[in-house]
Amino acid sequence: MQNVYYFTRTGSSRRIAGKLARGLGADQYEIIDGNRYDGIFGYLRAGYYASRRRTVAITVSREPVAGEKLYVVGPVWAGGPAPALRSFRKAYPGHTMVLILNDLGQPLEKLKHIGSEGFERVYLINHRDKQEDRDIEAILLEESI
Ligand SMILES: Cc1cc2nc3c(=O)[nH]c(=O)nc-3n(C[C@H](O)[C@H](O)[C@H](O)COP(=O)(O)O)c2cc1C
Repeated sequence: MQNVYYFTRTGSSRRIAGKLARGLGADQYEIIDGNRYDGIFGYLRAGYYASRRRTVAITVSREPVAGEKLYVVGPVWAGGPAPALRSFRKAYPGHTMVLILNDLGQPLEKLKHIGSEGFERVYLINHRDKQEDRDIEAILLEESI
């Protein structure tokens, strides 16, 4: 059993999670960070919390069930996964998780703090490449092998 969880501020990760869930034949659920990130102050808060690696309180639209493999989709903030993604990883230590990040151009090699986060694999969809659907297909292919 596998399912997709996403955290989003502006909708890209929800869209990617939807496509991934369809490809996997899985369902998608939202990770909600209790902080407000809208507007200019929200943007600044997001950057500040991310660069400080702040732990944030999260809720989920459905609790993961033991034994499920989880695909976790969300944005890069300040060169690493958004804080809600780290909190989600920590909240469910017993689950195998694959992380699918998306960003505006920073390549995976340049991203800080990932790899040691306890994710089985990390993918990056770089919106500068404008090939989201192809990237998702490649992820699905790699995951099915
Ligand atoms: C606070 C903040 C910091 C960001 N930092 C980066 C960054 O370091 N590198 C990058 O390429 N994109 C960065 N972005 C852009 C997001 O990763 C990108 O817009 C992503 O697609 C947003 O996903 P979402 O629509 O699901 O929220 C940042 C966005 C925010 C709000």
